[in-house]
Amino acid sequence: MKQGKFITLEGIDGAGKSTQLAWIVELLQRVGKSVVVTREPGGTALGEQLRAILLDKTMAMHAETEALLMFAARREHLDKVILPVLAQGQWVVSDRFTDASFAYQSGGRGLDSDKLAILEQWVQGGLQPDLTLFFDVPVEIGQERVSQIKNRDRFEQEQADFFQRVRAAYLERVKQFPDRIRIIDSSQSLAGVKDAVEQTLQPLLNYG
Ligand SMILES: Nc1ncnc2c1ncn2[C@@H]1O[C@H](COP(=O)(O)OP(=O)(O)O)[C@@H](O)[C@H]1O
Ligand SMILES: [Mg+2]
Repeated sequence: MKQGKFITLEGIDGAGKSTQLAWIVELLQRVGKSVVVTREPGGTALGEQLRAILLDKTMAMHAETEALLMFAARREHLDKVILPVLAQGQWVVSDRFTDASFAYQSGGRGLDSDKLAILEQWVQGGLQPDLTLFFDVPVEIGQERVSQIKNRDRFEQEQADFFQRVRAAYLERVKQFPDRIRIIDSSQSLAGVKDAVEQTLQPLLNYG
């Protein structure tokens, strides 16, 4: 059976990833794809427990601990969800994946990206998403959008300078992998972002 495709959504908090997820699923289902939606950190029973720890704002941890827990959750996610689902010919859409580790743990927290590259190779081998949508917004807009959230998590509660570094690291990844990662201008209206998503997915929607 033909392998499914693996699509990941990236961007700073408040960029609009979760909002666009339903639209992406609808576009794929319209052309007959069977789609599994998942997220990181999380996506498995163990991964969701690690997510709870990682997002708990009372849980202080070393930046390397944070990175290792992210990759531990990812190892489980690949084994239990991503790889088996793709092998069955279904498509996987994940709200965040490894680019987020480079953006948050390296860009945001300042970890050496070479260390993350070792974990990436260890956990994923050569596996990369087929397509990554990077929802890009200026930090002020992202911050404004999450300012409504009452109980912000350990990442959402970070300050603007943290998100500036995260965004810059994402843009570095885009430069490094221009064929895989596509930028979506998410400062537009919801309708504008939806159109941009549809255009960007078009080549995959036409794929047999
Ligand atoms: N293009 C947009 N214009 C205005 N508000 C938006 C837009 N996209 C998302 N939002 C709002 O911003 C907030 C954060 O969006 P969300 O999809 O949760 O972001 P993320 O998952 O990237 O953190 C939500 O309240 C959402 O309704
Ligand atoms: Mg979200």
